[in-house]
Amino acid sequence: MSHDYEEFIMKIKRKSGIDLSLYKEAQMKRRLTSLYEKKGYTSFKDYYQAMSTEQALFQEFLDRMTINVSEFYRNGKRWEVLEQKILPKLLDKNPRIKIWSAACSTGEEPYTLAMILSNFLPLQSISILATDIDENVIARAKLGIYPERSLQEVPENMKRKYFTADGDFYKVSDDIKKAVTFKKHNLLAEPFDTQFDLIVCRNVLIYFTEEAKNLLYKKFSDALKTDGIFFVGSTEQIFNPSHYNFDTEDTFFYRKK
Ligand SMILES: C[S@@+](CC[C@H](N)C(=O)[O-])C[C@H]1O[C@@H](n2cnc3c(N)ncnc32)[C@H](O)[C@@H]1O
Repeated sequence: MSHDYEEFIMKIKRKSGIDLSLYKEAQMKRRLTSLYEKKGYTSFKDYYQAMSTEQALFQEFLDRMTINVSEFYRNGKRWEVLEQKILPKLLDKNPRIKIWSAACSTGEEPYTLAMILSNFLPLQSISILATDIDENVIARAKLGIYPERSLQEVPENMKRKYFTADGDFYKVSDDIKKAVTFKKHNLLAEPFDTQFDLIVCRNVLIYFTEEAKNLLYKKFSDALKTDGIFFVGSTEQIFNPSHYNFDTEDTFFYRKK
């Protein structure tokens, strides 16, 4: 690792608690280098110096490093498996299931969960914890206003039921919003709550080093109840689930033993 980047990692960790060394190096370095070069800086050192006096630069850095893309019902087939196969079993055992959407970005994922659960339970009895490291996305999630392209995979009946169109945008209903509690949380630095029945963590572990991923699989496993389900992104199969006390329930769904 270059000395310049290594120093930058240290300073960012001291400033924000964010440990960039746990994110895949080549990818992260490329993203950040192209950002600072565009702003006219020539090294991580200069870039950090500017950032320490200009808060907006730090916000922009955070925005760049977090990669916030999301959409409702992302990889629709997987949500069908959740609805048809996973949830009936979980709800059978315990209708008051405890759910966590980890690295929830702008809220599409936990709101999708709330919509699907509303097919089984009254919305007032649903409570989903949704967390992300990035305060900006959490603020947008709470606002709940989305461009049409975020809704492409939303089934027509859900769209009618839970969204209102406002110009080019769609607003998610208050009933759905009330089912979700958003919190800021850094997966790589903070303790996890426990006794979850379902943890959804999709499209964030791909950015982490193998070492960080390994640690997180253990922590997610510990955070689940026996028979609880861990739902991962569509490129994120776990190679050796039994190592983390998981059985494969379906592709991209793991059951805690
Ligand atoms: C690509 S989005 C995934 C959103 C959603 N889960 C989905 O699959 O559509 C990745 C999210 O991970 C968040 N993130 C990155 N590092 C994180 C960390 N250390 N702790 C918690 N969230 C993190 C980013 O802020 C971003 O919102």
